[in-house]
Formats: sequence, C-alpha cells, structure tokens
Amino acid sequence: SKDIYNILINYNFFLFKKINVKGWVKHFRYNYFLNINDGSSLKDLQIIIDNKYFNNFFLKKINIGVSLEIIGILVLSKGKKQNIEIYANRIKIFGSFKMEYLQKTILQQKKHSLKKLREQSYLRFRTNIFSSIMRIRHHIAFSIHKFFYKKNFFYINTPIITTYDTEGAGDMFKVTTFNFKKIPINELGEINNTLDFFGDFTYLTVSGQLQGEAAASGLGKIYTFGPTFRAEKSNTFRHLSEFWMIEPEMAFYKLNHNMILAENLLKYVIKYVIKHCYDDLFFLEKKNINRLYSILNSSFQRISYTNAIKIIKSSKYKFFFPVKWGTDLQSEHEKFLSEHYFHNCPIIIYNYPLRIKPFYMRLNDDNQTVAAMDVIFPNIGEIIGGSQREERYNFLLKRMIELNLNIKSLWWYLNIRRFGSVPHSGFGLGFERLIQFITNINNIKDNIPFPRFQKNAFY
Ligand code: 4AD
Ligand code: MG
Repeated sequence: SKDIYNILINYNFFLFKKINVKGWVKHFRYNYFLNINDGSSLKDLQIIIDNKYFNNFFLKKINIGVSLEIIGILVLSKGKKQNIEIYANRIKIFGSFKMEYLQKTILQQKKHSLKKLREQSYLRFRTNIFSSIMRIRHHIAFSIHKFFYKKNFFYINTPIITTYDTEGAGDMFKVTTFNFKKIPINELGEINNTLDFFGDFTYLTVSGQLQGEAAASGLGKIYTFGPTFRAEKSNTFRHLSEFWMIEPEMAFYKLNHNMILAENLLKYVIKYVIKHCYDDLFFLEKKNINRLYSILNSSFQRISYTNAIKIIKSSKYKFFFPVKWGTDLQSEHEKFLSEHYFHNCPIIIYNYPLRIKPFYMRLNDDNQTVAAMDVIFPNIGEIIGGSQREERYNFLLKRMIELNLNIKSLWWYLNIRRFGSVPHSGFGLGFERLIQFITNINNIKDNIPFPRFQKNAFY
C-alpha cells in the first residue's frame, strides 16, 4: 500500500489504469468497502466492491484476516479518509477461513492487550501496533549499520558458542561439555586447539566483546551486531534471555572518546527514525514524539559514580535499597538520577568501583575505580554498558588471577596484550532496550519478534 501511495505523486499518469494489489483484509463493511493492508505501512488501501459483479456466495468467503489479490482500476476517492481507492474487477482469494475462528484470534478487530498479542505471537505481525514496532525495529537496525558505515567501522561477527563468561555474572546457557586434557603450549604461549569442543563446558555467548577486542586490535574500529544470551532469572519489563547487542570496539579510544561515540550513535538513530518512521512513531507515541526530540536537544549529563552516590545519599527520596560507596546502583537509583535529578535527561555514569565491574575494565590511577561507563535513559535505565579496556598485560593478568578466572580459556585474550597492545575502548548497546525507548512500548518482550524469557520459549 505504501507503493500505491507513492504512485499518487504521479497520479495523473496512473489514474484509471488497471492495477493489481495483494494483501490481508483489515475491514469489510456492507459487502462494499474492503480495506486491505500488505504490511508495508500503517495505511490500508480501500477497495470498492460493486455487488453487481460478485455473487454473495463468493463474498461470504471474504472476512477480516483473509489474504487476497485484487485486480481493479485506480481512482481518486470521494471519501475523506483516503486519496485513492480501487474499483475491483476481479478478486482472487488465497487464504480464507471460517468466521468463527476469527473470534478466537487476535486478528479480530478490537483492542487487545499487548500481553494477549504475545500469546499469539505468530499472528501479531498482522496487527497495527506490532507491525509498527517491527518496521521501526528494522529502521533502527539499518540506521545503526549506516552510522558505523559512515564512520568507517568494520562490521564483524563473533561466535555464539564460547567457553567463558565475559561479564562474570555466572548466568550462561550451557551448550555442551568440554574437556581440558593435556594442553600443549607453543613458544608464543598459544594453546593448540586440541580442546574437545563436543566435550565439556561450552556456553551461549553473553557478549561478543572479547573477540571484538581482538578484531579491533587489527582492523582499528569494528562493531558486532548479534544475538547474546543471559540465563538471568529476572523476568522484568527490561530483561530477555536472548537479546541483540551492538558492540563497537575501537583501538586508540579512551573513555572520553567512547562516551562521545555512544552519545552520537544514540542521537543519530533517534534522528533517523523520526525522519523515516514518522507515521509509525506517531501512531505508537500518541503525539509524544517530543520525548525523542528532547533527547536530540539534550547533552548527556556525565557524572562519576562517586558523585552519583553523593547525590543519592543526600536526597530526600526513600529508596528500597540503601547505597554506600562500593555497592552497585539499582534501577531505582538510576531512575532517580536520570528522571528526577537530571529532569529526564540521559546520563552517563562513569568510573565505577573496581569490585562491582567485570575483569577487563581498565584500572584508574586511584587503584579503586575502573574506566567504566553506563548510559542511563529515562524510563529504560541502563541502555549501554562499556569501558576502556585494560590493555596492560600485567594488570590484566593480576586481575584475572584475583578473580580466579579460567586463564586456560582466555589465554588468547591476554595475548592480545603481548603483541602490540594499544589503549582501546568499546561498549554494548542493548538493541531491544533502544527500541523500547523509541517505540515507548513499555515491555521489552513486545519489541522483539519472538521473545525468549524465563519459562517462555514458544513459537
Ligand atoms: O552491560 P552489559 O552486560 O555489557 C556487556 O555485555 C559488555 N561486554 C558490552 C561491551 O562493552 N562490549 O550489557 C550491555 C547492554 C546493557 O546496557 C543493556 O542495554 C543490554 O545490553 N542488556 C540486556 N538487554 C535485554 N535483556 C537483558 N537480559 C540484558 N542484559 C543486558
Ligand atoms: Mg551493564
């Protein structure tokens, strides 16, 4: 239907031409007006069916949800809702079904809750709300690639099957088992790949970062964009077991450059989506697009972890979790900072305590904090987590030993620091959290085609 609308631009040329359209029925009124949609946009195309040319028995097969092809004449519409419509000459039905089944599906034209749509997630692509979200998701993905392409980043793919827990949170999905037998090491300190992959200890990756660092240590600037997996037992509006992450990694970048890149990326995407998905956004946002413009006009507030703790401690707010220097920030604290203290402005919290962050982050000169950064968005909370990486071999090794990490599976990561190590930084952007923010559809499960979360792996 979007194409048909574009035809309007030249409608003098196309008007009264015979054309052919395909789609699914959205409305069918008085056996006369038929609205169809092919998924390309929110706009339905109106078809006029002159009862004279079609018998009733045939028309009975047409119903909401039925798929069909119309051959007819394109004309200017007399109605107010649309500029053009089609006078049907011929109708070919592809998939028809009994009216009584319609009542049992979410195709039925009435207001369904998003939870109800999720229960029939194989059908929800037909609804206005979910098809809008999916079109926006598509454009967001494209804009992310475009942003990095323009900045000369290389898109690389990192493995899904790994042997180690990058984030150290311990919530990984086990794939199979793995066997560390006698491991020969050559003079470069490389371990020969005699590991029995179909033996013990392999997992679904929680992040492509570590391989991303290897790639950036040769290609300069790279990004990954792939699925990641967390067996977290948190069934919340912002957690999935399987989600997509965008992970840029840049050689020669320090934390400050990393922050600038993150802010530019997020603003670029939001700007792109406002430009290319206006109808879908307008439909979802209910006139609330100003929320997005205000992000474009803001400059992300930077605040160190230590200052964040001071602000939280001195506020009159009652928090469920008390904070003191050294504890992790909970989402209530992040919410307070970005929504109340900084008036719905995105914030970047940096320099977190060493002890609450993963092993790979670069130790600051104070010996207590690491060069970490989290980008916090109003309504969503953490949308990006990143850091400058520890590029100094001895520091990294010491930290890995302190944390009792399995050096046998991370020797190659250490070795990146031995042969031409450089300062480098990167971050991970949660794709669904970004979509969730842009669509303003509150549950992350409604921002991915087929959500995976605890106790749910249907469809
Ligand atoms: O903060 P995280 O765990 O960082 C990393 O994985 C780093 N290795 C990234 C890097 O530096 N290359 O995750 C990054 C982002 C979070 O900020 C959040 O947006 C998203 O991934 N995320 C989730 N999204 C949905 N469901 C979950 N369970 C998520 N866990 C993290
Ligand atoms: Mg994080």
